[in-house]
Amino acid sequence: MTALADVSCPTDAPAPDLTALAGAPALLPVVGGDTLVPLVDGRSVPYANLDVAASAPALRSVADRVTEVLPLYASVHRGAGYLSQVSTALYEASRRTIGAFVGAREDDVTVVTRNTTDSLNLLAGCVPANPDGTPGRVLVLDVEHHANLLPWQRAGGATVLAGGASVAETLSGLRTELARFPYALVAVTGASNVTGESLPVAEVVRAAHDAGARVVLDGAQLVPHRGFSLAASGVDYVAFSGHKTYAPFGAGALVGRRDWLDAGTPYLAGGGAVRQVAVTGTQWQTAPARHEAGSPNVVGAAALAAACDALAALDPADLHAHEATLRAALVAGLEAVPGVRVVRVWDDAVDPVGVVTFAVEGHDPGLVAAYLSAEHGIGVRDGRFCAHPLLARLGYDAGAIRASVGVGTTGADVVRLVEAVRAYVEQGPTTRYEVVDGCWAVVDDPRPVPAGSGLEGLFATAAAGFLADAAGCGPGV
Ligand code: ALA
Repeated sequence: MTALADVSCPTDAPAPDLTALAGAPALLPVVGGDTLVPLVDGRSVPYANLDVAASAPALRSVADRVTEVLPLYASVHRGAGYLSQVSTALYEASRRTIGAFVGAREDDVTVVTRNTTDSLNLLAGCVPANPDGTPGRVLVLDVEHHANLLPWQRAGGATVLAGGASVAETLSGLRTELARFPYALVAVTGASNVTGESLPVAEVVRAAHDAGARVVLDGAQLVPHRGFSLAASGVDYVAFSGHKTYAPFGAGALVGRRDWLDAGTPYLAGGGAVRQVAVTGTQWQTAPARHEAGSPNVVGAAALAAACDALAALDPADLHAHEATLRAALVAGLEAVPGVRVVRVWDDAVDPVGVVTFAVEGHDPGLVAAYLSAEHGIGVRDGRFCAHPLLARLGYDAGAIRASVGVGTTGADVVRLVEAVRAYVEQGPTTRYEVVDGCWAVVDDPRPVPAGSGLEGLFATAAAGFLADAAGCGPGV
């Protein structure tokens, strides 16, 4: 175990009284909400899943819907059989539900993809080139997740602009840059996967449209947590993921303007994306089929549609209040622990979603995260959150710790995290940790492999290495 450094960042914030919060229930039931996980002291406790921003648990209604549609499963767009026709109808109905959930306009296209990364890579192949044949210009901020950075960089034509210390300064920088060149597209996060903060979408849209550019919103962290509408916001494209929208069955979506998607490079070359193929050439379909080569993921699309239905049925005020209450308690509770800093991108951001990144001064984030798991049964993410440029600019090159909440999170989950971080700072770990292949792990980890996981035959206990093998740590994460 590393020596615990002195905590050198005392805070004056009084510890909030979280007693009332401890009884706050989840907003919707999720699968795994009562799964027990082992601790190094031999006890088992319910898993406190505070890593919803990475992958959210399935809603119970989504799992039920998947069970319902599986007996109807057959090939999509390819079969004359009755169930093929049912599956095709299910897929197309799911597409309509997914589009409607994000306020698709009448002529918008909904492409079913794998996830947000997939959607943004797809769109990167559809940005029209400049008249001289060079790649169309895309303006992106350095606050973005790699999914909303690397596709534009790879396509060429990307300008990565450093964000300012405030929302106002960042918007002003965007406007100045948009006046310098004709940009085709502004690619912007709907909510940061690091801090949950966002720029005001209406202002970004106004600035971009005034300059003749379109806007794509990385909706991965926004769409599951807030109502969003393409039609109401004027955003041109939105990308989001099923696995962050309580539907982890392999589908995501890109929804937006038809013309670029009809004319752009077909995302995958293969069956289903074509009208006619000859050895001399291929006639491609228009969107969405143009970008959906290969057998469509009907189960994933039905699951995502079921999640959209469940979220749309919630009162938006309840969704907002649930998450805002949990987030506010997380921030207040963590900031009251000596040496803990909560990370912020902008000092004037309003209404962030339920993502809170923090650092414990003088302590390796990987060690804190390993401790939270091994000694408290709490799941968080540590590292640089696939947002290396932002973490570098904010001075967190060594990474940080992220806690994130969703509709399945209870007040007790949040209270457990705050108390566990305080126990870490005040008492330190009770077991020994070491770095194995770049990841923090418990020395001689006694935790058993979960019964029924199928891993029992491969590993005797966590000490055999399955947790370290599986850990999402390392310099590239
Ligand atoms: N994009 C996911 C995250 O931010 C994986 O954690």
